[in-house]
Amino acid sequence: MEQSAMRIDIMTLFPDTVHAVLHESIIGRAAKKGIVDINCVQIRDFTENRQRQVDDYPYGGGFGCVMMAQPLKSCLEYVMSTAEERRSRVIYLSPQGQPYTQETAKRLKRDYDHLVLVCGHYEGVDERFIEECVDEEISLGDFVLTGGEIAAMAVADSVCRLVPGVLADEQCYTGESHWDGLLEYPQYTRPEVWEGRAVPEVLINGNHAHIERWRRKQQLIRTKEKRPDMYAAFQPASEEDRKLMSSVEKESGRKKLTQPVVYRAAVAEDIPRILEIVQDARESLGRFHIDQWQGPYPGAERFEEDIQLGQCFVLTHAGDTVGFFVLSTLHEPGYDDITDGKWSGDMPYCVLHRAAIAKEYRGSGASQALMRCADEQARVYGRKCIRVDTHRQNKPMQSLLRESGYRYRGNILVDAEPGHDPHRQAFEKLLKDKK
Ligand SMILES: C[S@@+](CC[C@H](N)C(=O)[O-])C[C@H]1O[C@@H](n2cnc3c(N)ncnc32)[C@H](O)[C@@H]1O
Repeated sequence: MEQSAMRIDIMTLFPDTVHAVLHESIIGRAAKKGIVDINCVQIRDFTENRQRQVDDYPYGGGFGCVMMAQPLKSCLEYVMSTAEERRSRVIYLSPQGQPYTQETAKRLKRDYDHLVLVCGHYEGVDERFIEECVDEEISLGDFVLTGGEIAAMAVADSVCRLVPGVLADEQCYTGESHWDGLLEYPQYTRPEVWEGRAVPEVLINGNHAHIERWRRKQQLIRTKEKRPDMYAAFQPASEEDRKLMSSVEKESGRKKLTQPVVYRAAVAEDIPRILEIVQDARESLGRFHIDQWQGPYPGAERFEEDIQLGQCFVLTHAGDTVGFFVLSTLHEPGYDDITDGKWSGDMPYCVLHRAAIAKEYRGSGASQALMRCADEQARVYGRKCIRVDTHRQNKPMQSLLRESGYRYRGNILVDAEPGHDPHRQAFEKLLKDKK
């Protein structure tokens, strides 16, 4: 018979148990095909005393018994005599070993074609056997098992599934958790809806590029959530990974709306939080090269005045201040001269001046809530027209305005600070009567 790609000898006091487990299912089928060769060797068969005793009391006293070095060494010598041509590694399964990882499995599969797994029992094994015969100690984790068998089976199983031919395809394990430092994406099978929970849409539409991207992003998201230690150590190898990581980072600090956003008139105590939100917005606008709020405007004095005039409002959600807006009924001289278009009429209007949402609430629906609150306040003022201006580069604001029922009316100039762009696009919304 041809030599198998990987041979594993497990030295144990319970060979039948270990054999039964490892000769089942996928690894069992691979063993039958001769791709892997797993043998369980009874340590007791190598004792030199009449009672076939494998353990004895510990020197110095203490609880329990210790496995003697002689049967272990004789057993090992027998195993090695049958595997002379192989690249062998003798491993003692021990809670004192290095914690076992997928990287260890990969290394064992890559560097050796013969593993000898030594299972201790009782209080462990005589230290001199470890010193004399063991190449490395492996631990299944920071806990203590009764014997090394479960750990040996875990090592044998995880190494064997990396041997070509054991699994249907290499991709069966290269896409799995821990292969490249991430956890696997979530998996779903039929039915499409189970107990009211649907399979994510992207997995059903058949666009493989979208599916790949979604899965990679899910790997990053769940590794960050479930194993922050792994996520912190992960080094993106591709530009695509770098981009996905930065979008995961942006999204991860974000909050979700769990109840309706409400608004109230701002008070002086709100100013520090308002200025914090202004600063976030300033940085975000700057990152997108939008020349709006790039100087000291709007500062504390401006908001003090807004508050005194009763035209500054804060949005709150579950006790958090999530944003603010200033809605004024005062005449806005800058809106008198509109170019490239015109206002819809000369009805009394209010002006949405300064508005922003805290960065952790961006994308949560809070911006849309701000727009609804501004409509509501305009109605409180008894005005049916809201006017607003924004920088021509401020595309996110423009699309929010359009989505909220505003229409582009033309261009205006504002009193910008020296060195800053005074050009703005003007938008207007006519409020419908509430039914
Ligand atoms: C009860 S333990 C002995 C523990 C030992 N007295 C100690 O405190 O380090 C008996 C045997 O179980 C196995 N074992 C226990 N915990 C293990 C772990 N976390 N990983 C691998 N093998 C373990 C070892 O083979 C060990 O010889």
